[in-house]
Amino acid sequence: MSKILVVDDDPSVLSAFEQMLSEQGHLVRVATRGEEALELVAKERPDLVIMDIRMPGISGLEAVRRIRALDPRLPVIIMTGYATTDTAIEATKLGAVDYHLKPIEGEEILRTIDTALERSRLMNRRVELDAAAAATADDIIVGQSKGMREVYKAIGRVAETDAAVLIRGETGTGKELVARAIYQHSRRAQAPLIVVNCVAIPATLLESEFFGFEKGSFTGADKRRIGKFEQAHGGTIFLDEIGDMPLEVQAKLLRVLQEKAIERIGGNETIPVDVRVLAATHRDLEADIVQGRFREDLYHRLKVFTVDLPPLRERREDIPRLAAYFSRKYSKELAVEAAPLSADALAVLAAHAWPGNVRELQHCIQRAMILTGGFPIQPDEMRRAIDLASAGAGPARVTTEAERLRLFIQEYLRAHGGENVYNRFLEESEEMLLAEALRVTKGNQTHAARLLGMARPTLKARMDKYGLGRAREQDDTRPAS
Ligand SMILES: Nc1ncnc2c1ncn2[C@@H]1O[C@H](COP(=O)(O)OP(=O)(O)OP(=O)(O)O)[C@@H](O)[C@H]1O
Ligand SMILES: [Mg+2]
Repeated sequence: MSKILVVDDDPSVLSAFEQMLSEQGHLVRVATRGEEALELVAKERPDLVIMDIRMPGISGLEAVRRIRALDPRLPVIIMTGYATTDTAIEATKLGAVDYHLKPIEGEEILRTIDTALERSRLMNRRVELDAAAAATADDIIVGQSKGMREVYKAIGRVAETDAAVLIRGETGTGKELVARAIYQHSRRAQAPLIVVNCVAIPATLLESEFFGFEKGSFTGADKRRIGKFEQAHGGTIFLDEIGDMPLEVQAKLLRVLQEKAIERIGGNETIPVDVRVLAATHRDLEADIVQGRFREDLYHRLKVFTVDLPPLRERREDIPRLAAYFSRKYSKELAVEAAPLSADALAVLAAHAWPGNVRELQHCIQRAMILTGGFPIQPDEMRRAIDLASAGAGPARVTTEAERLRLFIQEYLRAHGGENVYNRFLEESEEMLLAEALRVTKGNQTHAARLLGMARPTLKARMDKYGLGRAREQDDTRPAS
C-alpha cells in the first residue's frame, strides 16, 4: 500500500482517482490547490504525487519546483489538459517523472503509477541499512527504532541528490557513519570524499585548508597550494563539527554553496568547483545563532536537508540489537567467541543513561568482553565495563581533554615564546604522537598507522623525518656476532 497525493481543481477528477486508486489498495490524499499540496507533501510524506498543471494559485510547474525542493526523491506525475508539450518538457526538466494528457485513461495511468512507485521503493530498499545487514559490510547502522527508521528514510531521500546535508546529533550517535552512508549511496560514490574536521582549527588555517593559496600570498606561502574544495571537485566534502567553524570561514563557505566557485587566498581567479557538502555537528546551532556564533543564513542554507540522530536514551529498544552487533564485531577483531549477555546484564545496559551514546555502548561491550570471566557476561561485569567505558567517553571528557591541552599550550608558550614556537610545537607534538602510537602498538607500524588514522607509507615517511624506529631497524639488521 502506498500513499498517493492527487492534486486537481476539478472535484470529479479527484473522486475518479480516489476510487481507482483505493481499489488498487492505495491510500489517497487529495488537494485542490498547489499550496495545499505542498503542505500535504511536507506533512504526509506521500510516496507519489499526481498533479494537474493548471490550477488556481501557484501553477503546477511551480508546485513541482517546490516539491522537488522539499523532497527531491518524491516522484511527481503531471497531468495536462492540452497537448502543449512545452509545459510537459518543462515539468520533466524540473524532475516530474512523467506526464499524461487529459482525459486520463485508467490502464495507462496505472502503469505509470506502478513505475513511479517502483522507483520510490528502490529508494526505500537502499535505506534498509540495518535489516539488510549484509554480513560482509564493514559497518552497519544498527537500529530498528522509530527514530532510526526516520534516519534511514532521510538518508534515502537525500543520498542521491546533490543537496547539502546537515547531520545533527549528540556525540557518539553515529553522525560520521551516516555521512559515509550518504556518500556511499550517492551518485558521487566513485568520486572522492574529503573530510575536514573544523574543531579547533583557527580561521586562517582553515581557510587555506579549504581554498588553498597562491605563492607569496602571505609569509610562508612559498608555493601554490590547492585547497580541499578544489581537491574534492566532482566529489563530496564532509565538514565535521561545522558548528565549531569560525564565523569568517562560515561566510566563505556560504559563498561556495551559493556560487559554486572558490578563490584561492591571494588569487584573483574564480575557480568553479562542483562539490557536494555534507556537514555534521553536535552543537545546538539555533542557540549558537542567538549568541552570534553561527551565521543564520548559512544555517538556513544547510538546514534544508537534515538528518537528526536521536540519542541512545531515546531509543533504548535498539540497545540489545546494538550490543549483539558489537559483540559479534569484537569477537572477530579480538578473535574470541561472541559474548552472549545474560538477561540481567542486558537489564543493566537498559537502565544506563548513555551520555556517550552508541560509542559509549560500543566501548562498554568491548571492555566487557575483555573483562568477563566467562560467558554469559554477568551484570556486575557489565557495571564495571560501563564505569570504565564512560570514563573514556562522553562530552565531559572532551572538555577536560581540551582543557588539558590548552593548559599545556599556555605552559609551552610561556617557556618557548619567540623561539619559532609554531613549527617547533607542531614538530615536537607530532614526533611525540608518533612515538607514543608506536610504543603502545609495540612498534607494529600497521597497527600504529591504523591507530593514528593514517596510511602506512605516510606513517613511514613521518617516522623517517624524525628518525623514529631507526634504532630498532638497526638492531634487527645488526649481524649476529
Ligand atoms: N546506529 C549505529 N549502529 C552501529 N554502530 C554505530 C551506530 N551509531 C554509532 N555507531 C558507532 O559508534 C561510534 C561513534 O559513531 P560516530 O563516530 O559516527 O559518531 P559521531 O556522531 O560522529 O560522534 P562525535 O560527535 O563524537 O564525532 C562509531 O564507532 C560508530 O561506528
Ligand atoms: Mg564524528
